[in-house]
Amino acid sequence: MSMQESLPVPDFLYGTAWKEDRTPALVELALRMGFRGVDTANQRRHYFEAGVGQGLAAAYRAGIVTRADLFLQTKFTYRPGQDHRLPYDPAATLSVQVAQSMASSLEHLGTDHVDSYVLHGPASGYGWTEADAEVWEAMIKERDTGRTRFLGVSNVSLRHLEQMTSANAEAPAFVQNRCYARLGWDRDVRKFCTERAIVYQGFSLLTANAEVLARPLLIEFAARTKANPAQIIFSFARSLGMLPLTGTSNREHMKQDLASRDLPLPAEAIKAIESLAG
Ligand SMILES: NC(=O)c1ccc[n+]([C@@H]2O[C@H](COP(=O)([O-])OP(=O)(O)OC[C@H]3O[C@@H](n4cnc5c(N)ncnc54)[C@H](OP(=O)(O)O)[C@@H]3O)[C@@H](O)[C@H]2O)c1
Repeated sequence: MSMQESLPVPDFLYGTAWKEDRTPALVELALRMGFRGVDTANQRRHYFEAGVGQGLAAAYRAGIVTRADLFLQTKFTYRPGQDHRLPYDPAATLSVQVAQSMASSLEHLGTDHVDSYVLHGPASGYGWTEADAEVWEAMIKERDTGRTRFLGVSNVSLRHLEQMTSANAEAPAFVQNRCYARLGWDRDVRKFCTERAIVYQGFSLLTANAEVLARPLLIEFAARTKANPAQIIFSFARSLGMLPLTGTSNREHMKQDLASRDLPLPAEAIKAIESLAG
């Protein structure tokens, strides 16, 4: 059974980083506006995961959605990526930390399972390490016991992915990366993903590519299609097979970002934007 058959993976993820006290209200608003996928992390430094849970609970109470309508994704974050507000005992083994972090996420989100559990980033920027292998094994255990449906990795290079999979590790269902136009929109990693039916999730599509958004080509396409440059980028990302994330805090932008799903781009536009940089 393919992933799409077993679970409708949404075509947009609402990102919950950096929203602090506004997290509950913004999550509820995002669901009200039509988002069905939510991305968070058990990393209090950048995310307020319990606030995401409060937003979900409010949306359930208001009858906007039920848990079954949603795709919930959270992450395991190593100690160096955290501040003092840890979701696990730092003296415990990595396997135990994964189990504790997952249990805490489920409590924050008020659910008995998430749809996707992501390794926030490998332990080293240079390659897939023993620590990563231990964490990945522990994540597989979480999946096999039903606490997540799918697994993913984030902030990875092609080298990480090659080493991970050649170490006989099970391939991830998702890769979540910051997507830079100047790196050909992460061309190498996307190619690896396409060849293995891994869904590539792209973040910072707008913030990492401000120079592209200001290009006359983008502005011209936007004017011609009565869209804005942000919508063009999201539509473009989807045309390349990506699952985009947006972290907007603005109601109108939520509407615009979702409307990008109905904005088909001609093949020549896709090609032109793809070769804008990198
Ligand atoms: N795995 C990781 O390590 C990692 C790292 C970073 C982020 N993420 C995830 O990805 C999510 C998204 O992060 P991001 O960096 O892509 O986005 P982001 O930091 O939330 O930034 C999106 C920016 O684009 C603007 N924007 C969105 N739609 C717009 C529109 N239609 N018109 C004009 N401006 C628009 C937003 O401004 P307004 O708020 O004013 O709309 C905001 O400044 C995060 O919340 C998090 O869940 C993951």
